[in-house]
Amino acid sequence: MKKMLTMAAAVTLLAGMPLAGQATPEQDLKAFRDFYMKRFPGVPLNEFGNGVYAIDADARSSWEAIEEFPPYDEELEKGKKLFNTPFANGKTYASCFRNGGIGIRQNYPYFDAKSGEVKTLEQEINECRVKNGEKPLPGKRGDIAAISGYMASTSNGKALDIKIPNDPRALAWYEKGKAHFYMKRGQLNMSCANCHQDNAGNRVRSEVLSPALGHPTHFPVHRLSWGNLGTLQRRYGGCNEQVRAKAFADQGPEYRALEYFHTYMSNGIKVNAPSTRK
Ligand code: HEC
Repeated sequence: MKKMLTMAAAVTLLAGMPLAGQATPEQDLKAFRDFYMKRFPGVPLNEFGNGVYAIDADARSSWEAIEEFPPYDEELEKGKKLFNTPFANGKTYASCFRNGGIGIRQNYPYFDAKSGEVKTLEQEINECRVKNGEKPLPGKRGDIAAISGYMASTSNGKALDIKIPNDPRALAWYEKGKAHFYMKRGQLNMSCANCHQDNAGNRVRSEVLSPALGHPTHFPVHRLSWGNLGTLQRRYGGCNEQVRAKAFADQGPEYRALEYFHTYMSNGIKVNAPSTRK
């Protein structure tokens, strides 16, 4: 009987129906934000957009020195050029996006009621290519990260504003992403929250763990260890692998759901992309 009840609960969750007592996204957001504001008193909300440098003063000064001559400048220029270069049919990326693709990053990912899917910026860049007779770009790095980096940079200074519309399908995406964030996985049996919430500010080997609040504001990120720009989902894959779990497919439903939840949790923090990390 107990098992059946659990199953019924799971089915209800999958259908995106709020269970009695289940927190709404608004309540989740408040609790999530409050947790970090209490843990790091004196750090203003917007500072969380700087990741670990919001809470680690020593690391911050060397990072600020790097950002004076940003290692991603060339890729950003390339992204701008690619963004403005017409496809073979004469159209450009601008034709696929609201406001010609300028200053829209703060609203991604979003729930698309027509398809019932959560859409990310990188996904729509590729959908735009296909619609215009071009091949999709390989995900996570290279041209796609350069284009999304350029587009994101035109939103700098605008606060993230992700909507979870009152539609059971949107809520189901949100709940799926939330479950991913709190689910333990891999040989180390650790969740995103174990590192970036419970242990935010603590060290793991030589690294201070960043708060999850504010993570998505500065992606794509140029990691010195990558030597180039990478998308948020590239980083998700790396973090899944750190606990010896398998990374999920780039732009597949798991990471799109995670990105939806994760970015919604950072609503109100300003876009500041790209940025540099170790
Ligand atoms: C074993 C601990 C661990 C787990 C579990 C883990 N990460 Fe990380 N993560 C790290 C470390 C270490 C870094 C690099 C230092 C930092 O910025 O926190 C990092 C960095 C990141 C960054 C980049 C931060 C920035 O400002 O550029 C993101 C985003 C991220 N993790 C998301 C996740 C998500 C989402 C999950 C769950 C799928 C996850 N991590 C699971 C250890 C972990």
